[in-house]
Amino acid sequence: MKAIVIYTSIAHGNTGKVAKAIAETLNADLIETEKVNPNDLSNYDLVGFGSGIYNGSLHKNLFELIAKLPGPFVKKAFIFSTSGYGKTTSNDKLKAELVRKGFEVIGSFACKGWDTYGAMKLLGGVAKGRPNDEDLQEASTFAKTLQI
Ligand SMILES: Cc1cc2nc3c(=O)[nH]c(=O)nc-3n(C[C@H](O)[C@H](O)[C@H](O)COP(=O)(O)O)c2cc1C
Repeated sequence: MKAIVIYTSIAHGNTGKVAKAIAETLNADLIETEKVNPNDLSNYDLVGFGSGIYNGSLHKNLFELIAKLPGPFVKKAFIFSTSGYGKTTSNDKLKAELVRKGFEVIGSFACKGWDTYGAMKLLGGVAKGRPNDEDLQEASTFAKTLQI
């Protein structure tokens, strides 16, 4: 299985840590969203998309990338995110977009990530120290369920 992990991590590098843990477990290529050539993704069996959650959704550059893919794009995909709340429901909008494009979404992972957005900053942020070693271990366990 050839896999690639695509990620955007602009606030604190939180999602970058998760992306690395998943890519290492899958022995996958790891690349930032801005550097992806949409035409290259057809070389992979499994494509992972991840970012922080910014105002309720994954980063818009992932949506833009998906829009640029030659479709229908019949591949397996998974989603991962970090956020103040750490809920997988925040991944659902991107999931719908991937399904619309023809992907089969075989997994969705979320964990907490240090959040200093808005008024949270005054309190030192929420979820300080996240993702921690346990989160990264869970990300790795999640990645093992994707091995197709
Ligand atoms: C502009 C902005 C908007 C955010 N919106 C949300 C949000 O809607 N829900 C949430 O739980 N966290 C939110 N956060 C917190 C981030 O999702 C969290 O810090 C995440 O781990 C950042 O990932 P990154 O370091 O990989 O960019 C927001 C952060 C920023 C900077």
